[in-house]
Amino acid sequence: MSSILVADDEKSLRDFMVIMLEEEGYQVVTAPSVEKAIKLIRENNFGLVLTDIRMGRSNGIDVLDAARNALPDTPVVMMTAYASAETAVTAMKKGAYDYISKPFKIEDIQLIVKNALEKRKLSTENRFLKTALNDRFQISNVIGKSGAIQKIFDLVEKVAQSKATVLITGESGTGKELIAKAIHFNGNRKNYPFVSINCGAMPENLLESELLGHEKGAFTSADSLKLGLMESANKGSFFFDEVGEAPLSIQVKLLRVLQENEIMRLGGTKSIPVDLRIIAATNSNLSELVEKKSFREDLYYRLNVIPIHLPPLRERKEDIPDLVEFFLNKYNARHNKTYINGIDPDALKVFEWYPWPGNVRELENVIERAVVLETEERIRKTSLPDELLGQFSPDKIQVPGLEQSDIDLEKTLDQIEKKMIANALMRSDGIINKAAEKLNLSFRSMRYRIEKHKLKDKSKNDD
Ligand SMILES: Nc1ncnc2c1ncn2[C@@H]1O[C@H](COP(=O)(O)OP(=O)(O)OP(=O)(O)O)[C@@H](O)[C@H]1O
Ligand SMILES: [Mg+2]
Repeated sequence: MSSILVADDEKSLRDFMVIMLEEEGYQVVTAPSVEKAIKLIRENNFGLVLTDIRMGRSNGIDVLDAARNALPDTPVVMMTAYASAETAVTAMKKGAYDYISKPFKIEDIQLIVKNALEKRKLSTENRFLKTALNDRFQISNVIGKSGAIQKIFDLVEKVAQSKATVLITGESGTGKELIAKAIHFNGNRKNYPFVSINCGAMPENLLESELLGHEKGAFTSADSLKLGLMESANKGSFFFDEVGEAPLSIQVKLLRVLQENEIMRLGGTKSIPVDLRIIAATNSNLSELVEKKSFREDLYYRLNVIPIHLPPLRERKEDIPDLVEFFLNKYNARHNKTYINGIDPDALKVFEWYPWPGNVRELENVIERAVVLETEERIRKTSLPDELLGQFSPDKIQVPGLEQSDIDLEKTLDQIEKKMIANALMRSDGIINKAAEKLNLSFRSMRYRIEKHKLKDKSKNDD
């Protein structure tokens, strides 16, 4: 229940307010003077303050000031005996929520109180949500003590405060989006929007109108003005995910934002200034795309001001134990089944040999699955999926799209080969000779395939 402070030097008014507001279910505290009101404000967390503008020789604005300082989320409503527009305006400028002239109707004050309390609820919730969100992207929630990740942390902290464009590269599931958010939520734009778009997930014309918005009548179905995502992210950060897949027409628009800080809505005639911090991510090799002329060279240089490369998980296996613990806590809390407090050493060993083609995301999924399936207090090898354990036999291999006619055979075979090689390596503790034997391959052929699929574990390449 919200308690309300009523400050007024007139006893009859205080009594009236107490009766009326208590009837509505509120708890009411009264103060006959400015001094008393300020004292109460410093000692209590009121949901709402109603104060007279003039109390004897003292000024109700002082009550307003005290409330703004001590209780920033608490709305303050000013009551005035004569509708003095001037003082009311001063009060509003200083942050009063509203004002009401005496004598007032019961319904009027009831409505103002109700609305003011509603507003307070919203602003408290908002603040709470913002802190919760910011916490989630604290650097402390990005896990990893490997040198590579530590360097990235330093870089993130340094660039977060600037507006410099960042290009994040790395295989799928390495944490590109997580780092993009960490940059935004640790910088001075954190109270403005973080908006993202996946350039590969939408047809070209839709992507364009989503990004830029359109004027009324820009095309047949544009029956009203629509703000684009870039405009709505103003003052915040804009995340271009899979930027390598952006069609050339979108690349031009992006270049314009980077160079001129402005956009033009579809069907529009004037440029609209935008203040955006651009973060882009890709898991393809942009410089190769530049060579193939499917990515603009000028855009590539504009984006690549601060490159951040996230190495694949198999190249930073020292991060695995901490990541496992982090995800165990996360999914224990989410599924609160049995409490799982660790992992068996031989299960962890599997983790350290498996090449994690899906990187951190795959590890996270494996842990979530194990948390759900495990019946013991520790994750055992038996709760891990088959592809990690290398127990599959040829007839257990799932062939994706076997029933489809338009399957890319080369690509599918390649994926199967990668899985089998990775698996054999894992079952042989990373020793190439042993793994080659398991697949009936020569050492050279095995080594070639390992390199082709980038499955090499750097610490073990000379056996
Ligand atoms: N260092 C890390 N610490 C904690 N969680 C991580 C870390 N890296 C990645 N994750 C988690 O792994 C999952 C995948 O990360 P994210 O979505 O950022 O990857 P991505 O590189 O954007 O992948 P994709 O290219 O497939 O979009 C997320 O749930 C993310 O929170
Ligand atoms: Mg992503």
